[in-house]
Amino acid sequence: MKKKLILDVDTGVDDAQAIMIALAAPNVEILGITCSHGNTTLENVLKNTLRVLKVCNRLDIPVYAGCSEPLLSNERHASYFHGKDGLGDVPDPDAPGLELVQEKKGVQALVEMIEQNQGEVTLVATAPLTNLAVAVQLDPSLPKKLKALYIMGGNIESRGNTTICGEFNFVVDTEAAYIVLERYTCPTYIASWEFTCRNSLPWSFHDEWLAVKTAKAAFIKNISRLSSEKSKSAEYQKKNSAGKGFSACDTYALAAAVDDTLITDSEEVAVTVELQGASTRGMMVLDYMELLKKKHKAVIMKKVDLEKFKQMLRRAVM
Ligand code: BDR
Repeated sequence: MKKKLILDVDTGVDDAQAIMIALAAPNVEILGITCSHGNTTLENVLKNTLRVLKVCNRLDIPVYAGCSEPLLSNERHASYFHGKDGLGDVPDPDAPGLELVQEKKGVQALVEMIEQNQGEVTLVATAPLTNLAVAVQLDPSLPKKLKALYIMGGNIESRGNTTICGEFNFVVDTEAAYIVLERYTCPTYIASWEFTCRNSLPWSFHDEWLAVKTAKAAFIKNISRLSSEKSKSAEYQKKNSAGKGFSACDTYALAAAVDDTLITDSEEVAVTVELQGASTRGMMVLDYMELLKKKHKAVIMKKVDLEKFKQMLRRAVM
């Protein structure tokens, strides 16, 4: 039986790559893609998601519009990295139109898809967690109906990429991250910022990966030109000293959800998010001392089987 996945994305360059890994996985059925504000505006995210599906010939997968703003925080995007449009600002005259977006609202769709496939859905969240937080308000029993939740977000050693101690997805909607880590008591796997940096791939692999002559490789090459340049810049390297190679953050959470054997080292810890700190708001907190007395622990990913990971990336552009 195929693995049933729902993707919650803010398509951005690495979300695009993650979606393409899922589309290429032979053992996966994508029930739907819910979109969130995040790397760019919700409208751009919807357009970008449709562009990815078009290049992969999979416009049959339903795309839903979720939340356009965080619960409480001010809206914030990552245009400095992903481009103003979220996909590297390369014009696409043949982009599919927004009329292809489903009428049903994203959060409602999330609740219904999980309800209709109880115990079978793996939810992969690579965006700020607004849609998930609102969904659990609508249906508090939602987490019990999920098979697993994979999140790209948070940090494990207080290294930020957006604020001093905060990773982008958790900073952009800190209250949502808090709600999700409190209330999603299903098996939860977290790909943190430091983890993705430490498991980066050499740029030589990146170049060889995208050298294949396919429309999908050309698409990724095009949309990732800007973010690759940023990642290689001396300034970025200095600020993000946790890792120096090519690391498309969202692809790790997705790949781990697709293949249970991808993660070769992990640990189980109760986690929460700092809501108050002047310097630390949005930082993920790991309760090694078990002072929070939380029964639910998250699986914190540590190491990836890089050979398997490379295979998945290669398949995504074939
Ligand atoms: C996360 O922030 C976004 O810019 C990326 O798409 C990824 O989800 C990394 O911190």
